[in-house]
Amino acid sequence: MLRFSLSELLQLLKNFCFSFSGKMLEKILILLCLTSAAAGQLCKPDASDGYKVRLSIKTALGDQAYLWDEKEMFLFRSTMAYAMRGQLNQQFDVSNIIVCEETARVSFWFVVTSPLNTSNLVDKKSVEEAVRKHRNRINSAFLLTDETLEFEGIPRTLEAPFTPDTPPWLIVFGVVMGAVVAGIIVFIGFSVVQKKRKKNKKTPEDEDSEEEESRGKTMENGAANEGVYNMSFTDEERFTRI
Ligand SMILES: *[C@@H]1O[C@H](CO)[C@@H](O)[C@H](O)[C@H]1NC(C)=O
Repeated sequence: MLRFSLSELLQLLKNFCFSFSGKMLEKILILLCLTSAAAGQLCKPDASDGYKVRLSIKTALGDQAYLWDEKEMFLFRSTMAYAMRGQLNQQFDVSNIIVCEETARVSFWFVVTSPLNTSNLVDKKSVEEAVRKHRNRINSAFLLTDETLEFEGIPRTLEAPFTPDTPPWLIVFGVVMGAVVAGIIVFIGFSVVQKKRKKNKKTPEDEDSEEEESRGKTMENGAANEGVYNMSFTDEERFTRI
């Protein structure tokens, strides 16, 4: 009775141990899966801090096209690490550039982890600035151009920093300022002429032969002011002549 129960107990213990180790294994596996999933989650399509890259090596190089393989990807990651070092002055490494969703007709996503804490991603803006600042170096590493090495969402080098020699607001500003200055000059000129006219009213001068011409010009201003305008005009003429 005792022996039986003992063997039974042993069996139970054995079963328990097996089931326990099975459960442990399961747990370890689940944990491993979770951690790898967490690591993979840093880089995923449409990641908020990720960029999609598309290469058209055939289009760019034709017969000279090289095969995009693991070596090329290493060069891309190191080029990006180089660009990031230039941008943030931190010791970025190849391991900081995580690539995922690679397709055969070459496109992939990548994210950049911080060298200070590899579970943190470098924000999208810094990556964009790094790419734009080092665009020529990145392009020339792969013998490609802005058109054949696309960073989705990052404008081409030629488009991005393009600013016209004179920005539109400056042209508008110049026109407005020019009009204001011209208005001021006209106003000052007019008031000077008026002052002179007032002075001359007290000592009217003989009207010269130009009177007829000036009358014709000021006709539209109305008959009432005619005499006044004529005087000022003849005055002005005389003034400019002197
Ligand atoms: C790294 O960042 C994560 C999330 O921001 C944080 O939980 C963790 O403590 C950090 N690790 C170190 C070593 O600073």
